[in-house]
Amino acid sequence: MTGGARVSKRLRMIPPYLFAEIDRMKNEAERSGADVIDLGVGDPDLGPPQAVVDSLVNNARREGTHHYSSYAGLPELRSSFAGWFKRRYGVTLDPDREVLPLLGSKEGIGHTFLALLDEGQEVLIPDPGYPVYTSGAVLAGGVPRYYPLRAERGFLPEQEELKLLVSRATAMMWINYPSNPTASLADVHDLERIAGFAADNDLVLCHDAAYAEIIFGDRSPVSLLQASGPGSNCIEFHSLSKTFCMPGWRVGFAVGDSGVIGALARVKTNLDSGIFMPVQDAAVTALTECEADIKIIRSIFESRITRFVEALRNMGWKVPLPGGTFYVWAPLPAGYDSMGFAAMLLQDAGILVTPGVGFGRHGEGFVRMSLTMPEERLDEVLERLRNLEVEW
Ligand SMILES: Cc1ncc(COP(=O)(O)O)c(C=O)c1O
Repeated sequence: MTGGARVSKRLRMIPPYLFAEIDRMKNEAERSGADVIDLGVGDPDLGPPQAVVDSLVNNARREGTHHYSSYAGLPELRSSFAGWFKRRYGVTLDPDREVLPLLGSKEGIGHTFLALLDEGQEVLIPDPGYPVYTSGAVLAGGVPRYYPLRAERGFLPEQEELKLLVSRATAMMWINYPSNPTASLADVHDLERIAGFAADNDLVLCHDAAYAEIIFGDRSPVSLLQASGPGSNCIEFHSLSKTFCMPGWRVGFAVGDSGVIGALARVKTNLDSGIFMPVQDAAVTALTECEADIKIIRSIFESRITRFVEALRNMGWKVPLPGGTFYVWAPLPAGYDSMGFAAMLLQDAGILVTPGVGFGRHGEGFVRMSLTMPEERLDEVLERLRNLEVEW
């Protein structure tokens, strides 16, 4: 941070940026002319469907699109998402009370803490997990309580461990499947078990389903609302960022309990405005006309990841094949910690990966690789890895 601004206590409490050292090394390597391959950022390289881009361009030319738009979104957008949800999950949503468009799911996730949490209340957060759950809790005056995700349990929460963490001060629990960073999946029965625990302990259950559509093989996407129904103290976040490769467009949705959705909407009315109208029109196009594109996007990610993991295994690196997401969550070869391994890969092979410890204490022992680049570039990664002297 530059300048001498006195920042708030809450901002100071956000854990230090663990990747700063890796960033510094990356910049240094690039300055010295190295061709660094960045597997760090989860930003899809594939573009959005053509029909979505055409819709944005055509609608941007319409008169009157420059106005503020309603924070609640166009009714067509909400009903398109409700229609999509019904087709996908068989769950009927009231588009006026149970669906809320977001400026990307991250915005909704962050604001949910402000909507639901009182000072000092506790939040159950997965470790390893997406860092926004911690920042959101801390900025809202809450206290993160981490539950471990362990490989031997399929990176699912363990009831006995949850019971030790939960108390009368606990207000919310966060889950995320398909999971960033572990690339693990939950089925409806897993979600039922977790929803049961949340209900027994009077917690709002928040499911981050940003990667719901990036799933492989003959798997079907799974929603928390299939397990618990929309009326039951829960909220689920969806995103067009990964599903349609539109991360810069900022479109997401919150669905679930109308009371919880209503509270989030109240925060949004006070703090932000709606999505640019032509982007909303384009999102309607994505949700209603682009089924075939999703299949193509999914199959590209699947074939990349299958090929990549197979090649790693042939080298001797025993990496599990993910059931979804575009991440590989790879256990470390013996003798390294995750920062040390990431530093070695950057220095000796010009490959940037994310050290697992950056996602929480239980992320130690792993690195995350994001396969958001063409296969030729991934082949170059494999070639560089093969040339390393590492006991995989
Ligand atoms: C687990 C998870 N949730 C939510 C998001 C936010 O996505 P967006 O705000 O683009 O919808 C991301 C982005 O990387 C993510 O990894």
